[in-house]
Amino acid sequence: MAEEIKRSWYKEMSVYQVWPRSFADGNGDGIGDLKGVLEKLDYIKSLGVDAIWFSPLYKSPQKDFGYDIADYRDIQPEYGTLDDFKAVLKGAHDRGMRVIMDLVVNHTSDQHEWFKKSIEDPTSPYHDYYFWRKGKGGRRPNNWMSTFAGPAWEYNEKLDEYYLHLFAVEQPDLNHDNPRVREEVKDIMRFWLDMGVDGFREDVITFISKKEGLPSSPYYFPIGTGIENYMHGPHLDEYLLEYRHEVLDKYDCMTVGEAPMMTTKKALHHIAEGPDQQLNMMFHFEHMGADCLFYSWLKTKFNLKKLKKVYTRWQKDLYGKAWNALYIENHDQPRIINRYGSLKYRVESAKMLATMYICQSGTPFIYQGQEIGMLNMPLDDINDYVDVSTLNNYKVAKALLGEKKAMELVHYASRDNARTPVQWSNEKNAGFTTADKPWFFVNPNYTEINVASQENDPDSILNYYRRLLKFRKENDIVIYGSYEEYCKNSDELFVYGRFLDDKKMLVVNSFSENNVAFKAPEGFDLDKGKLMLSNYNNCGIVNNGFALRPYETRVYLFD
Ligand code: NOJ
Repeated sequence: MAEEIKRSWYKEMSVYQVWPRSFADGNGDGIGDLKGVLEKLDYIKSLGVDAIWFSPLYKSPQKDFGYDIADYRDIQPEYGTLDDFKAVLKGAHDRGMRVIMDLVVNHTSDQHEWFKKSIEDPTSPYHDYYFWRKGKGGRRPNNWMSTFAGPAWEYNEKLDEYYLHLFAVEQPDLNHDNPRVREEVKDIMRFWLDMGVDGFREDVITFISKKEGLPSSPYYFPIGTGIENYMHGPHLDEYLLEYRHEVLDKYDCMTVGEAPMMTTKKALHHIAEGPDQQLNMMFHFEHMGADCLFYSWLKTKFNLKKLKKVYTRWQKDLYGKAWNALYIENHDQPRIINRYGSLKYRVESAKMLATMYICQSGTPFIYQGQEIGMLNMPLDDINDYVDVSTLNNYKVAKALLGEKKAMELVHYASRDNARTPVQWSNEKNAGFTTADKPWFFVNPNYTEINVASQENDPDSILNYYRRLLKFRKENDIVIYGSYEEYCKNSDELFVYGRFLDDKKMLVVNSFSENNVAFKAPEGFDLDKGKLMLSNYNNCGIVNNGFALRPYETRVYLFD
């Protein structure tokens, strides 16, 4: 078993993600803020998590809601001040929770001083902070397309040059090949680590090194053309190791890198433990592709076998070598119940999905609202959407598929689904703000789905999450045990075992709206097991098996 696994706080913790704009409004202006966070620290702690990851709090024109940073050392005024942040940091630390910041250094905002200076004076050192290039015969420097749709180059008339932006036009890419840029990045890291933060979630960090010469791609997609030239660019290892050795190693901190199109093989290259380890963990996307191709706009039917294969691969390939980051929701993903669960069995499927991923080996991340089973919020009018990628993807979808289909996709895939204000109570505006109007629509289902109504209900999703996280914390097997999958051919059940020393655990999950028969795999005598978690009462056993009810989950522990 797991003598080979090194224990560490970042492996044992669970993390709550705050997307600040929609978390809690403390000053009554309709926008979530740090005062709101401060007031909710006891709530976050009550979930049983050990850390908070803040999506960007920095000063930003909010073209991509904070992922376009204008000042890495200051707080967005709508959210508060640096002192407000320090109060939250202290409040979290006082409660035994760590704080993880979002480090967004693949690009800045076009309102960042560096970018402004790079335009003002093309001979200044700041020009080479970005990828400025001349056009080629009146055309763009290459054929790359942005991740948010549209070309990845924007023309600047004054300079008669184009700049590269892999995301929105207002998010120019930083040139990490320039040593000055890397010094800036290290300084930013030190600034926050010296203040006391405990680590970073590193935004699209695997994109920071672009292939020399920025060659055009032989492939064409309306979105992301050229990605093979920067997905794991030639100097990525070098730069990540530089950041690690010169900064991160000097602090007791952790990193989790966001890594689109990541496989286990490539991940091990970056996160396998040892002297060459570059990051502690990675957010890959493979398990978010069970109902789509690559990303939710290319929608397919939910396929449980696809999901299980991915999970098992990551559990097996990393075990004893590297550490998994576990998530099913975040600010970029539509709500999971709408995707992998069931609206008919909302509560049951929410609890099952929670169990399904949190009982795997890795560090679980829980996104705000996930713990109460918040849902997608379809809006009728495309003009009501605010997310830049939604609006861009809609345009592409409309051109290819027509208005009706495009709107259906928006309803399913929009990031705005996950960005509606947290539903705290059944009071006006779901208790999110005392202002007349919150900055974005509150999901009208808040009268039914809210924190207050779940607080004192022992059967609520919220209290299930609390039990689940407590169970994880109290049982090393959930954190460090090895993993084995059973019933692999089932289209309805996801069953796996965990093993640590002489202990065993069996996790049985149904993804079906019908009853499904289950027989325990060899080596598990259910009568000898202790039922630790379930989302139904009356969990009988017949002939070492049972019929799972819709979206049932059960966790048995064998000591
Ligand atoms: C990934 C972030 O999670 C997403 O919200 C953002 O739009 C892009 N990176 C660009 O920063």
